[in-house]
Order: sequence, then structure tokens, then C-alpha cells
Amino acid sequence: MPAPRECSLTEFLDLLRESLSRDACWGVVLSQPCRVDAHSRGRESLFPIGDARVGATEPVDRRPEIKTPDPFAEWPSKLTVRPIELSGARQYQLAERRGKQEFHLNLTADELLTRITAEFGERFEQADLFTPDADYSARVIRKDVVRLTKRKPSKSAPPLTHDRRKQYLIPEGRPCPFLTEIGVMTPAGQVKAAKQAKFRQVNRFLEFVDDVLPELPPQGVLRVIDFGCGKSYLTFALHYLLTELRGREVEVIGLDLKSEVVRDCQRIAEKLGCRGLRFEVGDIAGYAATGPVDMSVSLHACDTATDAAIAQAVRWHAKVILAVPCCQHEIFGLISDDSLPGLLRHGILKERFAALATDALRAALLEAVGYRTQVVEFIDLEHTPKNLLLRSVRTDRPSSESRERYEQLKAQLGLRDFTLEQLLQTEL
Ligand SMILES: C[S@@+](CC[C@H](N)C(=O)[O-])C[C@H]1O[C@@H](n2cnc3c(N)ncnc32)[C@H](O)[C@@H]1O
Repeated sequence: MPAPRECSLTEFLDLLRESLSRDACWGVVLSQPCRVDAHSRGRESLFPIGDARVGATEPVDRRPEIKTPDPFAEWPSKLTVRPIELSGARQYQLAERRGKQEFHLNLTADELLTRITAEFGERFEQADLFTPDADYSARVIRKDVVRLTKRKPSKSAPPLTHDRRKQYLIPEGRPCPFLTEIGVMTPAGQVKAAKQAKFRQVNRFLEFVDDVLPELPPQGVLRVIDFGCGKSYLTFALHYLLTELRGREVEVIGLDLKSEVVRDCQRIAEKLGCRGLRFEVGDIAGYAATGPVDMSVSLHACDTATDAAIAQAVRWHAKVILAVPCCQHEIFGLISDDSLPGLLRHGILKERFAALATDALRAALLEAVGYRTQVVEFIDLEHTPKNLLLRSVRTDRPSSESRERYEQLKAQLGLRDFTLEQLLQTEL
């Protein structure tokens, strides 16, 4: 590869233009913010007009002596661009880092070129362009002049199809009142960097709900209960999906033992004007529904509270049951190394095995009472190890095979009792 050379900044922009024109721009990064520019244009209060330091030529660090907080913390420190495919068309996702936050924007090739032209040399001193033929690094050394380095290509083709943003039911960039209220989004619809995981989790959950909507009555008020709703961001998400995105009339109830949490959720629901959403204090086991329930949701309801939620839903003939179990202690205390020699000797293995076995038993019981059941991954394992979702749809065809499977597994585990079985005695 040739040695670095000096060239005009325009020459670098031409390289970018050319790579964009043949869909061969695999990424751009602008870094090394121009501090001088930030002072003179964006932070006049720090360097008032007439300040001798503005416009000085020596390359010194011009930051005034400022104690914390760092006034530049929110100033863009980096722009990262990657190609994505939106509705079958090539676009470029621009991520702008400001302090701890990252903001995203999708741009066409022309818009990207305009943006980079405006930023490079003005707000950033370093630009890196990645193409299939070469990596280009350009460093501003004088006004409109850069030192250009060409290297062997380091990036492989970007995974355009892996962009999940286009599939999100609540896309980034669309202001969503409840996400703003719970601090996931800014009022303008940008997802805060620290809340990206929660944002993904909300959307993932909504995908599951959306998938089962065809199983629910197509008309009339949908009645949904969220058992052990806690702070309820998923309850609000569910309500948003059903009402705002799917135009349904709903009665959504969030139930929890904790009165303070319930009060807070109710206040938020009223503040946001969430029609048909209310919160109640109560115990899952003793909760008496005042009418038919179409869908029951229980997300991380502790230990056997999940069983209580499933049993209630089955008794009410809920059409859909979504349950993400939480900590599971019941079987852990009942199985011993004798049942599965070698496997259960280590505490952590026993704990995980107990949780898996519990969900297998629950799934078999649900099928036994007439619910087609799938066990699927709820969210990425990186967020929580409690990431399985039991997704059950009522078929009214109890499965004797599943009942048999349940009995076999129970016997293999050496179990005499199992909470969900007791709770479903009448239905089994
Ligand atoms: C881990 S939090 C999960 C909150 C929420 N569903 C989520 O996934 O973010 C579990 C919640 O279940 C509630 N809970 C546990 N047992 C319950 C019961 N028997 N009846 C009602 N709520 C219960 C707790 O008070 C707590 O708020």
C-alpha cells in the first residue's frame, strides 16, 4: 500500500462519493472533534467574542480550566456510519455519540455525503472510510488539506439484513409517550444509550404479543391481565401496541402485591391518558376476574406466582397465556443427586436444571389441559438468564400424551407434588 500523502479534503470526499455511488461504502467514522471549532461556534459563553484565544493559530489545548462537569461531555465525540437496508433500499445509519448517549439517524447516500461534507474538517479532524477495496484514513493537517493513508481492507461485507430497527414495532425516532415517561426515550424519540437493552426488550416482547394477536377475538374489547406487573413498562408497552398500533379497544389490568408501585403506575396511566388501562393491588392467587379474560401475561412473577398466574388463566379459559417464569425454588428443594446421579451435584447446575425441568413440567401440563404450548427464548441471554417464554394458545383439545409425558418426567425426577398440578386438579 502507498505511503500516506497530502491531498485536498475534497479528494477524500470524492472517494466517499464514489464508494456510495456503487454501494461500496461499508462504514465511515468521524472522530477527533475539533475543539477550537466547538469553542468558537458552539460554546460562545466559554470563549466570548473578543477573547484573544479565539482564532489563535498555535495548536494548543484551548479548553478553559473547568472543573466538573465537563462542558464537552454532551458535545458529539464521534460519528459512526454503517449501511443498512430499509424497505429494500440502501440507507446509512448514523450514530452520533454525545457523552454517554448515542443518537441514531437513517440517511440516504446523498444526505450522508452532505452531512460528512459539513462535519469533516469543521467538527471532526479524523475520517475513516471502509470499502471492499481499501480502508482510507484522512487526518486534517491544514484547512482543506488532509493526510490520506490507504490500507488493505479490514472490514468484511456488513450484515445489512441483521438490522432489526426496521422490524421494531416501536421504532427509534418515533416519540412514544410511555417510553419517555419511563426514561427510555427522549421526548424527540431518541433512545438513550443506557436504555438500549430495555428498548430492545420492550420491542421483543411486543413482537410476541403481536404474533399471538390473530388468536384473540378480532372484534370488541380485548381483556388482558398482567400478573405481577411491577413497574409495568411492559404493561404500558402492551397497552400501546394494542391501542395505538393495532387500534383495539382494551381493558388492561396490571396486578401487583405492592401498593406503592401500583399507585405510581396508575398515576402514570392517568397522566398519559391511557384509556382502558388500570392497576390494582392484589394477590394473583386470589384475584377474581370480573369478566372473561382473553390474554394473561406474567413476566418474571416470582417463583410459584407464575403457577398461580397460569392456573388462573386456565380456569378463566384465557385464549392466550404468556408466561416468563422467574426464580424457581420448588423443584430445586425436591430433587436430589439420586434422581440424576452426576448432574445435580453442583449447585449452579442443579439450579438451572431445576428451572428447566419446572418449565418442561409446566409446558406439559398446559398441553394436557388443552393449550398448545411453545417454549421460546424471550430476550437475549445476555440480559437475564431467566429468558424463557411459555407461549400457550387454547385449543380445547387436552392432550393425553402430554399428560403421560408429564407423569413420566415427574417420576424420573422423583417428585411427588408439583404446584401447578395441584392448582389445575379440577381441569386435569
Ligand atoms: C420481578 S418483578 C417483575 C415485574 C414485571 N412483570 C417485569 O417483568 O418487569 C415481579 C413482580 O411480581 C409481583 N408479585 C410476586 N408475587 C405476586 C403475587 N402473588 N401477586 C401479585 N404480584 C406478585 C412482585 O411484587 C413484583 O412486582
